[in-house]
Amino acid sequence: MTQNEQRFSNKTGEGYDLFSLVLPHQDEIQTKSVEKVIKHFNNQKILNVLEIGFGTGITSHELLTQSNNINLIGVDNEPKMLEKALSKLQSFSPERFSLHTIDALEYLKQQESNTFDAVISVWVLHNLQSEFRSKIYSEIYRVLKSGGIFVNGDKYAVSDKDLHQSNLDWQLKQFDAFENIGRPELKKDWTDHYVEDEDVNRVLYEDAFIKDLQNIEFKDCIVDNRHYMDAIGSGVKN
Ligand SMILES: C[S@@+](CC[C@H](N)C(=O)[O-])C[C@H]1O[C@@H](n2cnc3c(N)ncnc32)[C@H](O)[C@@H]1O
Repeated sequence: MTQNEQRFSNKTGEGYDLFSLVLPHQDEIQTKSVEKVIKHFNNQKILNVLEIGFGTGITSHELLTQSNNINLIGVDNEPKMLEKALSKLQSFSPERFSLHTIDALEYLKQQESNTFDAVISVWVLHNLQSEFRSKIYSEIYRVLKSGGIFVNGDKYAVSDKDLHQSNLDWQLKQFDAFENIGRPELKKDWTDHYVEDEDVNRVLYEDAFIKDLQNIEFKDCIVDNRHYMDAIGSGVKN
């Protein structure tokens, strides 16, 4: 895979936001991922926050809703997402955020070191191949200020194979809901996507996430708030 892989070009329609039907804990992962950023700083100062993969703007909306102290920069490499996200954020002053269509690694490499208080990403990094993901982690560490936090709400495999399989089976079963609303193509599409995510070069393991972050000197690395396949990972820059 190259950094230009775009796995969401056919998921920019209303089908994307219908995903909440098959992920009952979606709101909780969004809310708690953002809370983790805000609580880390006790909401005491203006925070420069970079969001990787803004998609249709769900996480961006949560960030701007939970705190008035956030200056948000968002990046996404799928051009069709920009319009969707801008429309979701239209109630916020445009001075509070800017969204850019660019690959995350390319954007990170263009930034000065020690620039951001926080980097957040929700359901993005598991889509990447692991080699590319590792480069992103290193760049996130570099652009964070000392004491800054990286929060990644995402799909994390557990190393217990049986438990992982049962989590995956549970999730695939939830996709039946698409059939029940007359959208069988969404069931097929998302099932294929989840099966692709299992590829050995792509699957994001919880323990590998923690180890990778520790290897680049993140501290306080943890993955918590698990619901089936999904959980919230984070680390703090030394
Ligand atoms: C599942 S969506 C998540 C969007 C949002 N955070 C949410 O929780 O709804 C993943 C997004 O990541 C974007 N993405 C994937 N790879 C990327 C990359 N290399 N650089 C920037 N964005 C990327 C996709 O285009 C897509 O919009």
